[in-house]
Formats: sequence, C-alpha cells, structure tokens
Amino acid sequence: MTGPIERRGGKERSSVMKDPQQISDMSAEVWGEQLFQRFKGKSFPLTGQWELTCRCNLKCVMCYTDPFNTPEQIRQELSYEEIIRILDEIHEEGCLELTFTGGEPFARRDFLDIYTYAKRKGFLLTIFTNGTLITPKIADHLKTYPPSMIEVSFHGLTRQSFDQITLGSGSYESCLEGIGLILERDLPLTLKTVGMTINRDEILKIKEFVAGLGKAQYKFGSDIRPRLNGSEDVYQYQLPHDEIRAIEQADEEFRAERRRKDQCKQEWIDQGQELCGGGKYKFHIDAYGRLQLCSNNRSRGYDLRQGSFREGFFQFLPEFPCPARRPSQGEPLVNIGTGDSQQKLKETA
Ligand SMILES: C[S@@+](CC[C@H](N)C(=O)[O-])C[C@H]1O[C@@H](n2cnc3c(N)ncnc32)[C@H](O)[C@@H]1O
Ligand code: SF4
Repeated sequence: MTGPIERRGGKERSSVMKDPQQISDMSAEVWGEQLFQRFKGKSFPLTGQWELTCRCNLKCVMCYTDPFNTPEQIRQELSYEEIIRILDEIHEEGCLELTFTGGEPFARRDFLDIYTYAKRKGFLLTIFTNGTLITPKIADHLKTYPPSMIEVSFHGLTRQSFDQITLGSGSYESCLEGIGLILERDLPLTLKTVGMTINRDEILKIKEFVAGLGKAQYKFGSDIRPRLNGSEDVYQYQLPHDEIRAIEQADEEFRAERRRKDQCKQEWIDQGQELCGGGKYKFHIDAYGRLQLCSNNRSRGYDLRQGSFREGFFQFLPEFPCPARRPSQGEPLVNIGTGDSQQKLKETA
C-alpha cells in the first residue's frame, strides 16, 4: 500500500512536508486502513459505529432497522445519561472516531446534545442520516461543531422513485432541502445509494447529479442485508452480481474504487491478515447498548448497561465469532465454557 503517510525518512518525507496538499488528498478510508496497518495485530478501539436509535420518520422498503421502529422497542433504547456514560468510557480507552447512525439519528430529540458532547470530547464524528429532518437551526449547529462527514442516503432521482423507496410522501423534497442546507454551509457531505432492483437504472444518473452539486462525494453500495428481526424478505431487492458489475464497469471512478478495494483485500490476504477489523480496531453499539463486532454481525453482544466498555472491547469482543477471521489461526472461533459467570450475565444473544 502506498501513500504519503507511508513515506518515512529523508527525501520523501521532506517532499510531503513541503506539500501539505498531498496529505489532505488521502481519503479518510485510506488513512484508516494505513493506520490499522500500523497496529499490526494489537487491539485498539480506534473507531466505532453507534446505532443511537431505531426510531425513524421514514419506512424504507429495504430498511434493516425498521422492524424495531416501534414504541415498545424505542422505550428500551439507551437513555441520554447512559449514552454519555458510555461515551466517557469509550473516550477513556482512546477511541478517535465515531459514526452516529440509526434509524434516524435526528429523530432522537436529544441527538444534538449527544453529538455536541461527543464533539467537545474531541471525537471525529460522522453522521449517517436520511437528511429529511435537517433544519436551518440544526445545520447552523453543525457548522459550529462540524462533523468529519455527513452521509445522506439518496436512493432515487425523482420524487416518484425516491418516495417509492422511503414510503414517505414529501421525503424527496425534504431530503433535497436538507442537502441544500448542508451545502450552503460548506459542510462535508457524501450522498450514497443502496443499489437495488427498484433503482438500478438510476444509479449512474444519481452519481452524475451528485457530481453536479460540486462539493459532495458519492458512494454506491450493493449488498442488501437481512432485517434486524432476521427477516430476509429484503433480499427481493438485491441486484444480481452481474448487474452490479455492469454498473461498476460503466463508470471510471467506480472501476477505480473496485480495483482499489480488490487490491487492498488481496494485500491483506497475502500478508495473512484478518479481513475484518471488528473487535480489533472497530466496534459497533446497538440502540440497546450491546457492544458488537460490527453492524453486520450481531450474533453476540456485550451488555454495556451491565459492564464496562473496556471489559467488553478487550475481553469479550475478541472471542465473538466472525466468518471474516482466519480459521488458520488454529483457534476456535467461539470461546465457550470459559467458566466466567460474568460472561453469561453480560452477554446477550
Ligand atoms: C439504517 S440507515 C440509518 C441512517 C439513515 N437513516 C439513513 O437512511 O441513511 C444506514 C444505511 O443503511 C442502508 N440500508 C438500510 N437498509 C438496508 C439493507 N437492508 N441492506 C443494506 N443497506 C441498507 C440505508 O440506505 C443507509 O444508507
Ligand atoms: S431512512 Fe434510514 S433508518 Fe429510516 S427507514 Fe430509511 S434506511 Fe431505515
């Protein structure tokens, strides 16, 4: 892997120092990957994703959190005080970066208080949002306490196709308003689309639209995951592999991104590294305070309401099973029967 941060010593180092632009050219993703390389096997909670709520004002047809967007489930979510206590613990362990997601984070009335507390602690913050609840007041607040990135989901290019996915009448206009408020304030913005059978013909056009906005980045995802209640009905929206490939092949930037990801993955395999950073340098927390490997692997959780982040991250997460870990390590994927009575108390399925 190459990049300015990799260049050490003598000549190359001084050329970087003279040209700071080279440093800012590196994406946060590449920066993270390279930083991870430096830790080489040591566990450290560098970055986390936190699903602060499953509450949402929309009801996207494919949404994995939607089954938990019910009053009964929402009552069980972490309170403001619990979140602040956990944030303090995460900070104490040296975590640098957090992504707040949902559900819809802005659907939590106390979201800006949580966000601002985290910002004042010094975390680099990313917000995943549907953009529809962003008001001028919220956007002004974000300008005062800027995030590293605001990622807005944008799944359709017309009112009809957009609202067909969100099932929210007027969501297209509200989302565009939110995007406008972010851009007016020059805040960092990424628009992203989950490619599905229902928007397959719009993806490249959405990308063009985003390029026309000038300052926004664009991301395209293609893997549909099951809902949090285990329902796999959403797979009906999954694009077949050859269609995803065709979309990627049709665009130079998508092709380059695919090459970069494939190359990076190959390097990791060649170096015998684990393909997943969950429990190594990454973690996920769900709306009920369960610490997990990642948002895609919730098979085991450590209850942060009952135990500390430190114990959860360093003692429990490494034992949780992950298919992306190398079985060649010769260790069992699941460590059961440790005799630790706390394990049963703190772990939740
Ligand atoms: C659950 S949403 C939460 C943040 C915010 N409400 C939003 O829509 O961006 C996080 C991301 O997951 C995507 N998503 C939702 N359901 C999905 C599924 N079943 N498979 C893959 N991605 C999904 C959304 O499009 C969004 O980009
Ligand atoms: S906006 Fe986000 S959380 Fe809300 S339903 Fe859509 S994908 Fe789910």
